[in-house]
Amino acid sequence: TSLGNYRDFYEQVKASRICIVGYGNQGRSQALNLRDSGFNVVVGNIDDSYAEIARKDGFRVMGIQDAVKLSDIIFFLIPDEVQASVFESDIRPSLSKGKTIVFASGYNYFYGFVSPPPDVNVIMIAPRMIGWGVRDVYVRGMGFPALVAVGQDADGRAEGIMLSLCEGLGIFRSGGCAVRSSFREETLVDLLTEHSWAGAMLFLFRAYYDVATSLGASPEAVILELYGSGELAEIAESMRNMGLFKQLRTHSTTSQYGQLTRGPLYVTDDVRKTLYNEAIKILNGEFAREWHQEQVSGGTVLRMSLRLSSEHPMEREEERLYRILGREGN
Ligand code: NAI
Repeated sequence: TSLGNYRDFYEQVKASRICIVGYGNQGRSQALNLRDSGFNVVVGNIDDSYAEIARKDGFRVMGIQDAVKLSDIIFFLIPDEVQASVFESDIRPSLSKGKTIVFASGYNYFYGFVSPPPDVNVIMIAPRMIGWGVRDVYVRGMGFPALVAVGQDADGRAEGIMLSLCEGLGIFRSGGCAVRSSFREETLVDLLTEHSWAGAMLFLFRAYYDVATSLGASPEAVILELYGSGELAEIAESMRNMGLFKQLRTHSTTSQYGQLTRGPLYVTDDVRKTLYNEAIKILNGEFAREWHQEQVSGGTVLRMSLRLSSEHPMEREEERLYRILGREGN
């Protein structure tokens, strides 16, 4: 995005009172970045271990309602699953004309689970980076990419405030960028990742394991080959640095030939149709309703799916291997 004339707002925003509601993955990193950029930050949190960490980091910590009451800009950085109820109980009552609420994901605002009053500015700054990364790159003087959008411009200042906050978070530094987006687009691309390749990869790896071990491969060889060696992370790194297909250059020609001739076999018309249908279920709210229903009915399907996924023989073999390798959690 172009920097435009947001600089007019920058000093004004820097002088306003900001509260970070939720001091977790994103909350801590964003609070520290803004404070180091000279912004005026307090933390609003329930009385738990996160509040303790915020105090240790030197922030003034108060209850969510009080923090929202005395702030002009509210970063809403608690898990998406609990935002709707916390918004009604602790945020809505303390909101007033001219305040700005900042989301880090599109989900709740897009589906209308959280609908701030019309006299409040609503913006989204959704980092394309995990929480600790947001802090790590800032400390190294670098930026990070984010999808940004104005949901509600109550007083004509929303865009300026959004870009000023991007600057404060370090987004415009080298390596970073703010991509103009929408709550709809952020929700679509975020969920579609989870509903397509991320989930499919897990189950495709399982199928690979079944086939290869049935043909005499050892579980250790398969697990190391698929993800245990860390090569997968290196490929992802090369994709980021070189490009999706350009990173093929780092593989042997045998590998390139194999990937380019066999890869397409797995993306049939049926798979494309499924991808499209799942995208529609994200956009029309069908998935969100299903997930909401699952949560209010106690999370049975999730619990059962987790249990079923842990019953596969690969899990035990993985534990055995990871114990030998001294990996985390074993
Ligand atoms: P998190 O799980 O780290 O949040 C923990 C914080 O939420 C703590 O301060 C805790 O006190 C508070 N909290 C938890 N349950 C609460 C409740 N019932 N009532 C009040 N406070 C409660 O959250 P995370 O992962 O930082 O996500 C925050 C937002 O950032 C979400 O909208 C998420 O979609 C978005 N996001 C997260 C990314 C990540 O790396 N995790 C990446 C990009 C966006």
